[in-house]
Amino acid sequence: MISVNFVCLGNICRSPMGELIFKKIVEEEGLALSFEITSCGTSSYEVGNCIYPPAQRVLKSHGVCGSHTARQIQKRDIVNCDYILCMDSNNLLDVLRLAGSEYGGKVYKLLAFTGESRDVADPWYTGDFERAYSDIYSGCRAFLQFLFTQHGAELDYDRRH
Ligand code: 4NP
Repeated sequence: MISVNFVCLGNICRSPMGELIFKKIVEEEGLALSFEITSCGTSSYEVGNCIYPPAQRVLKSHGVCGSHTARQIQKRDIVNCDYILCMDSNNLLDVLRLAGSEYGGKVYKLLAFTGESRDVADPWYTGDFERAYSDIYSGCRAFLQFLFTQHGAELDYDRRH
């Protein structure tokens, strides 16, 4: 089992998009049972709120379904998870501060897996949820490719059983 936690600021736009997009990708790959996938925010601003309607709409337009209730990341989320995938550099710094040096190796920026150093385009400020979708989808695909190189045998086994 590989555990993955997507992280953004509010946990109502980018990180629940990551959670639901990645869940759909691994389901399509026949690997749903190999993963535990969730998301959270670095802030408490939106705790208890559901996915922001424009984010939900763009997900639905791409055939991605599901719901999420916003929550704030806790240290135990980092301790208990294999991969923490942040949407931007501020999220990364906040999570690294919470993680401490012992757990910093689990923390990545999502688009690092596509070979880019930039952030996921933030739709809260741009209003461009389609662009955010495209960035997050590319990041999730590239992350899965990375996992095949890291955990290939385990994932192949899971797919066959
Ligand atoms: P998210 O978007 O971090 O992608 O969920 C935001 C949601 C709320 C706020 C900022 C970004 N806010 O400032 O309340």
